[in-house]
Amino acid sequence: MSEISVIAGKSSEDLARKLSRKIKANFVKSEIRVFPDGESKITLSGNISKRKSIVVKSIYPPVDTNLVQALSLISKAKETSSEVIAVIPYMGYARQDREFLPGEIVTMKVLGKLFKGAGASKIIAVDIHSIIGFKHFTIKSKNVTAIPDLVKYFKKLSLKNPLVVSPDQGGKDRAKVFAKEFESEYIALEKKRDRKTGKIQIKIKNADKVANRDLILVDDMISTGGSIIKATQLLKKQKCKRVYVACTHALLMNDAEKKIKKAGVTKIVSANTIPGKTSVVDVSSTIAKAII
Ligand code: R5P
Repeated sequence: MSEISVIAGKSSEDLARKLSRKIKANFVKSEIRVFPDGESKITLSGNISKRKSIVVKSIYPPVDTNLVQALSLISKAKETSSEVIAVIPYMGYARQDREFLPGEIVTMKVLGKLFKGAGASKIIAVDIHSIIGFKHFTIKSKNVTAIPDLVKYFKKLSLKNPLVVSPDQGGKDRAKVFAKEFESEYIALEKKRDRKTGKIQIKIKNADKVANRDLILVDDMISTGGSIIKATQLLKKQKCKRVYVACTHALLMNDAEKKIKKAGVTKIVSANTIPGKTSVVDVSSTIAKAII
């Protein structure tokens, strides 16, 4: 038996299998039964290594269900393995990393306690919303980025005088890294979100850069698609050519894909941290490098 086992959460089975092949680990599959009241029953099949287990489980919607399943897998792994690493490709709750309004609970603090309590000694995430989230964890943590993998995909498309665009200032560094790898220019729009209503407004300062160019909107995640839609509408007004979207985590809630396409986006490209139609970029090699 291999000295390492990869335990796959149901929501991340394909990525976990690819990872297990890359690191030559023993693959442990999980079957889930969700009862009518919402409780999950998990059954594992395969041998868990005594030395090291890697639990792979993204925490995407239903977020709380997937969180409890991830904690259960970690806890079960720890019964046999002396070391358990939790690979959480999409770290749900990462946007709740600080108290934006008085009285708000910083849920990332709670997650830090839960992962440690369940038995994980290290967490690996892919493009966590902000590294601030990990500051609340007392166990080791590592963030890896899908940007080089996304860039590889975009290099195969023939784009016309491409420009990388971040929909907000918070994503400026991400766009800068993407643009450097892609060997292009980048700009960052200015987005304001009303903390109470969630409504967003987007403005552009470098409008002169956009006309007649193919654009790649780069973001860490798409949830409702609101940010991408507003950005696309604004960029289209500046007479750009095609708009592509490159993001790590495509949650695409409430028909977001349809709405984004309707706003004029040619193609959405995302990583396989969340399975789905747009998730064509595999990040298993990137995760493997962080483990070995
Ligand atoms: C926000 O700062 C994030 O980087 C994303 O831009 C945002 O969470 C996407 O959410 P939505 O798709 O709902 O606009």
